[in-house]
Amino acid sequence: MAWPEKLPPMSLPLIGAPMFVISSPGLVIAQCINGVIGAFPALNARPQPVLGEWLATITAALETFRQRHPGAEIAPIAVNQIIHASNDRLARDLDLCERFKVPVIITSLSAPDKVVSRVHAWGGIVFHDVINPRHAKKAIDAGADGVILVCAGGGGHAGTLSPFALVEEVRKFWPGAIVLAGAIATGRGVLAARAMGADLAYAGTRFIATQEANASLAYKEAIVAGSANDIVYSAYFTGVPGNYLRHSIIAAGLDPDSLGPRETQAMDFAARKSAQAAKAWRDIWGAGQGVGSVSAILPAAEVIKQMRAEYESARQELCEAAAAPALLAGLQ
Ligand SMILES: Cc1cc2nc3c(=O)[nH]c(=O)nc-3n(C[C@H](O)[C@H](O)[C@H](O)COP(=O)(O)O)c2cc1C
Repeated sequence: MAWPEKLPPMSLPLIGAPMFVISSPGLVIAQCINGVIGAFPALNARPQPVLGEWLATITAALETFRQRHPGAEIAPIAVNQIIHASNDRLARDLDLCERFKVPVIITSLSAPDKVVSRVHAWGGIVFHDVINPRHAKKAIDAGADGVILVCAGGGGHAGTLSPFALVEEVRKFWPGAIVLAGAIATGRGVLAARAMGADLAYAGTRFIATQEANASLAYKEAIVAGSANDIVYSAYFTGVPGNYLRHSIIAAGLDPDSLGPRETQAMDFAARKSAQAAKAWRDIWGAGQGVGSVSAILPAAEVIKQMRAEYESARQELCEAAAAPALLAGLQ
């Protein structure tokens, strides 16, 4: 394992994953002041100049909290940038990230070649989102400081590989930081990610049913009611395979069991900046198989408190279990 030098130590090594539409400044602030890296897609701030307002609001709130609570564990923010020719905001969004010296940039889609040196120049680090070893290699060759392995069962555009398989394969050629994602929704899951060889865990779905998330009450309630079997994996909506709640597909008048491979422009990366794309994501609800671990709509602080307690008790349980045979051996 390789904790990134530029990140502060974290008692719960967790990133609140960026989610289109859903990640709001309120959610990011709540995550950071409770010791979890809060991430949001730059494209959530619309129109483009609003990104500057969001960064100003978030950084001011974190600074005020820091002054009022000296010694509190405050995690850094992360901004997600889609690296794709169709993202014509990228240069302007990076200018704003540079102005606010955003400590962590999470890149998705194409390898972050053109972004890394710029982020390093202002003292930030780059984590790149991948679903297979080939893309992990490309990101590392491009100079990324870490890779985010989005495995089977994750919300949004997740991969299909088992985390056991993907972490082991990537660890063969990458000793640096690994963030693990895919249905991690409890503190025990965060500990399991570390046991597998990841440095940090990445959780999106767990934060949809929070008071701060920018999702409708019906969406949050569906997350609470859902279980892993309610998640449908399909490329129908964006052209890229992703995980969605079955219930929302039926409500949109479609049959989740025979969607086919249709590719639509409605939610593609180029269209994400449009109100139409946001509406599409509001109607078809992205979610991962971790929904079964969500049992109430809570403030994000409460979710993190629960996850921290679960993480600590799982760690204790394992330490005790590991110590027991040694104790017995000592008695013989
Ligand atoms: C509704 C939704 C929207 C998402 N939007 C984005 C996005 O804009 N950019 C991105 O890199 N990942 C996005 N993701 C993926 C998450 O960042 C993360 O990889 C995923 O949620 C992890 O799996 P989990 O939901 O099982 O925790 C999205 C996920 C969900 C559920």
